Order: sequence, then structure tokens, then C-alpha cells
Amino acid sequence: MSEAVHIIEPHENSIMIGTGKGGVGKSTIAAQKAAWHAAQGERTLLICVTSQDDDDLGIERFDRGLRPEGPSVLNGQGLLRAVQDRTALLPIREVRPNLDVVPGGEAVGELLTLLTSRMPVEGAFVVASLARALAPIAPWYDRIVVDSAPEQDALEQLALAAVRWLFVPTRSDDTSIRGIRRIARNYKLVRSQVNPSLEVAAACLYGSNPSATQLHEEARQSVVRILGPNTPILSTVVGYREMPAVNARNKGLTFAEYAALLPTSAKSYDVAAGRARRADVVPSSIKPLAEEMEQLNLEIDAHCRKAA
Ligand SMILES: Nc1ncnc2c1ncn2[C@@H]1O[C@H](COP(=O)(O)OP(=O)(O)OP(=O)(O)O)[C@@H](O)[C@H]1O
Ligand SMILES: [Mg+2]
Repeated sequence: MSEAVHIIEPHENSIMIGTGKGGVGKSTIAAQKAAWHAAQGERTLLICVTSQDDDDLGIERFDRGLRPEGPSVLNGQGLLRAVQDRTALLPIREVRPNLDVVPGGEAVGELLTLLTSRMPVEGAFVVASLARALAPIAPWYDRIVVDSAPEQDALEQLALAAVRWLFVPTRSDDTSIRGIRRIARNYKLVRSQVNPSLEVAAACLYGSNPSATQLHEEARQSVVRILGPNTPILSTVVGYREMPAVNARNKGLTFAEYAALLPTSAKSYDVAAGRARRADVVPSSIKPLAEEMEQLNLEIDAHCRKAA
């Protein structure tokens, strides 16, 4: 079979969030970014190629969205089934207005065995399996955001083969920087074998102390050394703000949605007076976190447009 038969042109506005290392903030950024586009009226699809189901949008815990008929697509089962049966992805619709989601979860781990069993026949093109399952529904969307898992090269490659852009968040520590070497290797492999349209949109420092400028500069230099001298490094640094980030995820709310609750939130003195529970107090640090995330989304978008 000729190579041209296998090349699947990715959606122009599809982006994967990937870093080659765990716990950097990929799933957070992917969910916030997808919800941000949807809130602006763009038809958006979020695909979670991760065996962890973080449920930032409260799909499972708060029963958000319209489930497709038939067997459950939760916990990565929909993703696994589409690849297994060579059918189109079936997202959960309207998790928010304009936002559909293909959830990740445990079943995504089973993709590895499946892909390995297909290797002898499909060779390198086995990593285009997700791209094939996405292609029939991609034209429905203005935006496609893909969350990825760094635990397995094959899963990372599966996601890279399905998108036009790669966005790389990193922390400033050495292991995060080393993780970028891994994603850079997978990026080059996928680009040369199955997805020549793939490009690095930009990289950013995530979950860092905004005043650690010397550390940021060193991290930026390392990122450019690995990803190439033309890699844009965004100036927005989303700060490390654990409490609002973790609370928002636990409540299944985006940072913007959680920040919108701040003006009417219970206060610490209400807790002291026994009128409210600690969990009802929205931390004021959600405000800068939501603002920085919005700034990050704007900056990623501007760089994709410029690069395109
Ligand atoms: N700005 C932030 N400051 C502090 N903590 C954050 C911030 N953003 C996200 N977190 C928290 O950091 C943890 C890791 O984030 P997240 O799950 O997004 O990372 P990840 O890169 O997707 O991890 P994994 O590789 O395990 O999939 C989560 O508990 C999340 O709520
Ligand atoms: Mg994740």
C-alpha cells in the first residue's frame, strides 16, 4: 500500500498538550483550554488519551453532558472501542454549551495491547488509529484539544498522530526538562512517519513561582535547546496555586467558573461563626489563577495563528 493512503490530514485547529512527564498540568490546561474555546462559541471537542480520568469538567461525578446511546463511553471505554472496532469516536455531547468530550480512563491502557497486536500488519501506521477514529467527526468542530499521557510512548504517539499542533507545558525542574526530550523524540518520529503536518505551537512554564525569573530563564534555554531555536516560549507563566486548582477540579468546575463564584462565596469569618463549611469558601487566589489561564489561552492561540 502506498504511503499516501495512510496520511490523514489533521484538523487545522487541533492541538495536543504534551510534556513527556507526569503531573505537570497537561490535563488541567487541556480541560481549561477546551472549555475556554467553547465558552467563546466555538464548537469544541476534548479527547483525553490518558488512563487517568481527572474529570476536571465533572462529567462522571456530576453527570454532565449527554451520553451517547449504547455501551458506556466513560473511563476511556469509548476511545478504546472506536479504535478497536475501527469506528468513529462517540463523544459525550454538550458537557458545556459547545463542548463535547471523549473521556479518558483505565480502558485507555488497553489500547497498548491492541496497538501491539496490530503492529505486524499495520507497522508504523498503527499510531494513526486515533486519527482514523477522529477523522469522520473532526469537521463538526472548530477546535479539537487532545490531552495526553506520558507514561507510554505509544499513547503519546497516538495523540501526536491525530493533531496539527503540539503545545508543551513544563515545570522548571530538571526531570520536567528531561521529559521534553521524550516528547521531542516522539514528535520527530510521528512527524516523519505518519503526520507531516504536525508542528510545535509553543512551550510554556506552568505551575511556577512568577518571580523566579532566573530559574525561568534557565528553563527556557533548556526548552529551546531540545525543541529547536524557533520554538516560541510564551511569556505567560501560570503560577503554582494548589488550593484553587485542586478545589476547582474536585468541584468539576473550570477556573473561570469557580472564579465566578468568588463574589458570592462564604468567607472565613462565616466558617468561624459556624454559618458555613470550609469547603464553601472559594479561595481568593482563584482570581489570579483564572486570569493567568485566560492569558495563557490567548497567547497559545495567537502563536498558532502566527505560525499557521
Ligand atoms: N496552577 C496550578 N498550581 C498548583 N497545582 C495545580 C495547578 N494546575 C493544576 N494543578 C494540580 O496539579 C496536579 C497535576 O495536574 P494535572 O493532572 O493537570 O497534570 P498532568 O500533567 O495532566 O498529570 P498526569 O501526567 O498525571 O496526567 C493536579 O492535582 C492539579 O489539580
Ligand atoms: Mg493528566
